[in-house]
Amino acid sequence: MEQTYVMVKPDGVQRGLIGEIVSRIEKRGLKITAMKMHQIDEETAREHYKEHSDKPFFEPLVEYITSSPSVSMIVEGENAITIMRSMNGATKPIEAQPGTIRGDFAIETGRNVVHASDSKETAEKEIALHFSESETTTYSRID
Ligand code: CMP
Repeated sequence: MEQTYVMVKPDGVQRGLIGEIVSRIEKRGLKITAMKMHQIDEETAREHYKEHSDKPFFEPLVEYITSSPSVSMIVEGENAITIMRSMNGATKPIEAQPGTIRGDFAIETGRNVVHASDSKETAEKEIALHFSESETTTYSRID
């Protein structure tokens, strides 16, 4: 069973898309085992996006992601990492297919509504960065 980290970014929260995104995740059959609304601090944002630290969009990205609350989730299921990435759609909304979250709700790369871990290694790091052990749960999903 795989776990991934999913974030509804500040633009997704501000546009009232939390329910839509949670609903898509649940209806797909994935299990949300942790979820919280929190304003990500600067240090955490820099760590989360450190692979982009040399990119021109890094500073605006840190500023934006810390500017207003996000919703963080741990999402679990078979192939959860790949399935969440395909549900989100391409990073650049112009390339995202209709039916994906970004293809349906985003037009700007810098305001692309959601984030999901891109690999097992990244998922482990991002879950540990955004959640403490006591914030996680286990339960059986009934389908
Ligand atoms: P995300 O999937 O969270 O991972 C890296 C983020 O960097 C990406 O979504 C975008 O929000 C942001 N990003 C990537 N490329 C650009 C870009 N060219 N301009 C602005 N933001 C970008």
